Amino acid sequence: MEIQGQLALVTGGARRVGRILTLALARAGVNVAVHYGHSAEAAQETVALARDMGVQAQAFQADLTQPEAPARLLEDVRQAMGLPRILVNSAAVFLPGRVRDTTLDNWERHMALNLRAPFLLIQAFARAVGQGPGKVVNIADWRAVYPGRHHLAYTISKAGLLTLTQMAAHELAPHIQVNALALGAVLPPPGKDEAYLERLVERTPGRRPVHPEEIARALLFLLENDAVTGEVLFVDAGAHLVHG
Ligand SMILES: NC(=O)c1ccc[n+]([C@@H]2O[C@H](COP(=O)([O-])OP(=O)(O)OC[C@H]3O[C@@H](n4cnc5c(N)ncnc54)[C@H](OP(=O)(O)O)[C@@H]3O)[C@@H](O)[C@H]2O)c1
Repeated sequence: MEIQGQLALVTGGARRVGRILTLALARAGVNVAVHYGHSAEAAQETVALARDMGVQAQAFQADLTQPEAPARLLEDVRQAMGLPRILVNSAAVFLPGRVRDTTLDNWERHMALNLRAPFLLIQAFARAVGQGPGKVVNIADWRAVYPGRHHLAYTISKAGLLTLTQMAAHELAPHIQVNALALGAVLPPPGKDEAYLERLVERTPGRRPVHPEEIARALLFLLENDAVTGEVLFVDAGAHLVHG
């Protein structure tokens, strides 16, 4: 699919990794629907940055933990900007928790935002796009295939997202390609600094964080190759090979 001139919906697209993805698309000439939850100001900044790159951009608010929100979000975008041919599921929550101390609330939040919302968005997207063409990229994490002990619900939600990627790719072919980007450490979690990030990546083969332009190139690779579907592309400097 020629992506230039198409419209993409990026969930959590206003800030941090989501903004990197949004601006990668804008740089490639893709119009962007920038979804946000709470970050209205960041969303407007991202919209302005995208417009400066010469594409159409608009912000859309939705609390994607609510079951009816994903389908409504897609409909809002459709009415305001037209039918998106690209869906990027990036919004997620990342909270600590082990088997012994994960609360029900912790579990439910991860499943609702990280797994159910992408499922409902893909379902609504598939119905809207019909015979295609269409592209979905789910933003996952190396932890999905190399689970440790510290982020139980997060890791399980991302593992589920990889299975969803493969099942949706199978069912929605040949009209819609569905892939995942499994990222390594890109940005330190809120409240942590670059030194934290450097320590985090010390044990990875690459011994370095992932750079924004590397995510951008990987995203465009997945979107521009119609033969690639059901793929999980690790952009993590090898973290999934050694971490535990
Ligand atoms: N940061 C990394 O190094 C890293 C590493 C591996 C994988 N990833 C993956 O990359 C993606 C983005 O990571 P990040 O670090 O940028 O995430 P983040 O800083 O934790 O931001 C979370 C995003 O999710 C949105 N969000 C949170 N609660 C929401 C809700 N109830 N409804 C709708 N949206 C909601 C936020 O939007 P608002 O602020 O507008 O509410 C925000 O855009 C995630 O899928 C994450 O798993 C990131």
